[in-house]
Amino acid sequence: MLIGEPTVAATRISTQVRMLSNESADQTLISLENVTKTFSTPSGKITVLSDITFAVKRGRTLCIVGPSGCGKTTILNLISGFLTPTSGIVKINGRPVKGPGPDRAVVFQRDSVFPWLTVRQNLEYGPKVRGIPRRQWAQRIDEYLEKVGLKDVANHYPKQLSGGMKKRVDIARAYANKPEILLMDEPFGSLDVMTKELMQKDLIELSYNEQKSLIFITHDIEEAVFLGDEVLVMTRRPPNIKKRIEVPFPKPRNIGLKLEPGFQAMRKEIDAILKGRELHA
Ligand SMILES: Nc1ncnc2c1ncn2[C@@H]1O[C@H](COP(=O)(O)OP(=O)(O)OP(=O)(O)O)[C@@H](O)[C@H]1O
Ligand SMILES: [Mg+2]
Repeated sequence: MLIGEPTVAATRISTQVRMLSNESADQTLISLENVTKTFSTPSGKITVLSDITFAVKRGRTLCIVGPSGCGKTTILNLISGFLTPTSGIVKINGRPVKGPGPDRAVVFQRDSVFPWLTVRQNLEYGPKVRGIPRRQWAQRIDEYLEKVGLKDVANHYPKQLSGGMKKRVDIARAYANKPEILLMDEPFGSLDVMTKELMQKDLIELSYNEQKSLIFITHDIEEAVFLGDEVLVMTRRPPNIKKRIEVPFPKPRNIGLKLEPGFQAMRKEIDAILKGRELHA
């Protein structure tokens, strides 16, 4: 299960977040401190992440780009609590991560819809399991179904949907759980260009209006610059973090930003950093 029972403390914290001013917006919410991750494989141990340190402040979006196999999903799994670091520490709200929790919703790289539930039931699953009264979420689920363009197939089963539609069920299910932190692993990769832009715009609005903290992995540099307050460029070898770039464009952002020269310049800069890495790796 992705989302479990919300603790009283978590609810109190998220209420405070909405009430407090910019001061709390500067607080660190997610931190990795000197994190190393080693996997055992048939051909021996491989160290995928070595001495990684970074932090994400409350309400901010960190996008991660990097070549296949550099450890992006591994970072997400460490933050979501599905993996534990070999050394170092991962903290949420200053407390070490001990496992998955209701404060973090994950959209996995692969679809993780429940095949035995309809689209609507997939979205209702989290709030129902948490025992939240229907009146508090029924309308929201309708809104999310509409937003991701799945209203007409709400009573269909996943096997009756296309790959892109299944992905949208995953995304809507994560939103419907209203977590404080969204962890998204290439969520829009399988969507057509128009749907992708709509989803990007909705995500900007959601993260901005509701002060969500977001870690978003993508291969699409334009998407990283559009969504991110910061972009982390990773490389396959230590030090895994090649560069961390502040994205200066104010939020909320409109799709038109993608055409502006400053935006394109930043996209090219990140592209060059990635290609430089490719040349020297
Ligand atoms: N459970 C595991 N056991 C052994 N090796 C693993 C395990 N999980 C990941 N790896 C290895 O760790 C490295 C990083 O994997 P990861 O999935 O984090 O990469 P990624 O950056 O997300 O790549 P992609 O862009 O292709 O999704 C890869 O070499 C992968 O084979
Ligand atoms: Mg991955």
